[in-house]
Amino acid sequence: MDILITGITGFVGSYLAEYLLSEVPDCRIYGTIRWRSRTENLEYLNGKIKLIECDLKDYSSAKAALEQSHPQYIFHLAAQSFVVTSFHAPADTLSTNILSQLNIFEAVRALGMNPVIQIAGSSEEYGLVKSDELPITENNPLRPLSPYAVSKVTQDLLAFQYFHSYKLSVIRTRAFNHSGPRRGHVFVESNFSRQIAEIEKGLRPPILKVGNLTALRDYTDVRDMVRAYWLAVTKGEPGEVYNIATGKGYAISEIVEMLKKLTRVEIKVEEDPSRMRPSDVPVLIGDSSKFRKRTGWKPEIPFEQTLSNILDYWRQRVPEQPPAVQKIS
Ligand code: GDD
Repeated sequence: MDILITGITGFVGSYLAEYLLSEVPDCRIYGTIRWRSRTENLEYLNGKIKLIECDLKDYSSAKAALEQSHPQYIFHLAAQSFVVTSFHAPADTLSTNILSQLNIFEAVRALGMNPVIQIAGSSEEYGLVKSDELPITENNPLRPLSPYAVSKVTQDLLAFQYFHSYKLSVIRTRAFNHSGPRRGHVFVESNFSRQIAEIEKGLRPPILKVGNLTALRDYTDVRDMVRAYWLAVTKGEPGEVYNIATGKGYAISEIVEMLKKLTRVEIKVEEDPSRMRPSDVPVLIGDSSKFRKRTGWKPEIPFEQTLSNILDYWRQRVPEQPPAVQKIS
C-alpha cells in the first residue's frame, strides 16, 4: 500500500509516518519535502520513508509527486500553520494553504487517480463561537478570526466542492489543538515549556513571557491525533467532515499553572504585549461524537502527560550554554 504524506517533515507528519510504519503492514510511505524544509524530525523515521522533493504551490511539482508515489491514501498536512504568522504574512498563508491543495486535487484529476484524501482542517475555522454553542459540533457556523483560519475554511470548502463536483474521495477533519514532544516552539504549550527549560538551565531570568491567558483550548495528544487520522481515512465517509477533540477545555492560564507544578524553579509570569494577536479565538471546545461513533476513536493520553513529555523534550534539547547569537522568543 502506497501512502503519501505532505508535510512529513513537520510535527504531525513525522508522528503520522511513525504510526503508519508500525501499525499498517506492508505500507510504503512517501513524503514531500522542500529544499528548505526542517529535517530534524526525519531522524525519528530512520530512512524508512521515501522523500520526494516537491513544492506543492507548483502544479507540475505536485503532479510529479503523485506520479512518483501513486498513493492509495493522501494525508495533506503541509501548511503554514501558525496563526500569528498569518497576520504578518496573510498573502503567503492564503496562497500556500489554498494553492497547494488545489494543485493536489487538480493533479489527482488529471492523472485519473482515486486515492482517499484527508484534508487537515482546524478548529480555528469555527473562530468566534458563542457561549451557547459549546461544545462545538460540525454544524456550527464558521466565523474565522485570522487569515490562517480563512485559509483552512477555504481548504475545507474546496474539499467539499471537489467531492460533489468530481467525486474525489475526500475526508475532512477539523482537529482541535494537538501537541506533544517535537511541537514547534512558537505554539503556546511548547513555547512556555521551552522557556521553563531555559530558565532551569539559567539561560534566561525566571520570568515566563506570556500572551493572552484567558483563551480556552481543547488539547489532544499528537499520538492520539495521528491514530484518529488513520481511522478517518479508513473508516470515515468520503465527503463528510469530522471534529477531532477531547471535549475538555483548558484556559491558557491553567497550562501555566500545570507547567509550574512540573518544575522546582520559582517563576514569575509577565505579560508581553507583542504576544497579543489582533483578534484571538476566545474558546474552542469540541464535540467529536460524530467521529467517535463512526470510528470508535477516543483519546487515551491525558493532557498532563502530554505537557510533561513536552517539557522533558525541551529539557533534553536546550543547550547548557547560551549559543553565541541568541534569538529570544
Ligand atoms: N503562540 C502563543 N505564544 N500563544 C499564546 C501565548 C504565547 O506566548 N500566550 C498566550 N497564547 C494564546 C494564544 O493567544 C491562543 O489563544 C492560545 O494561546 C493558543 O495559541 P497557539 O498555541 O499559537 O495555537 P492556536 O490555538 O492559535 O492554533 C493551533 O491550534 C489550531 C487548532 O485549533 C495551531 O496548531 C493551528 O495550526 C491549529 O489549526
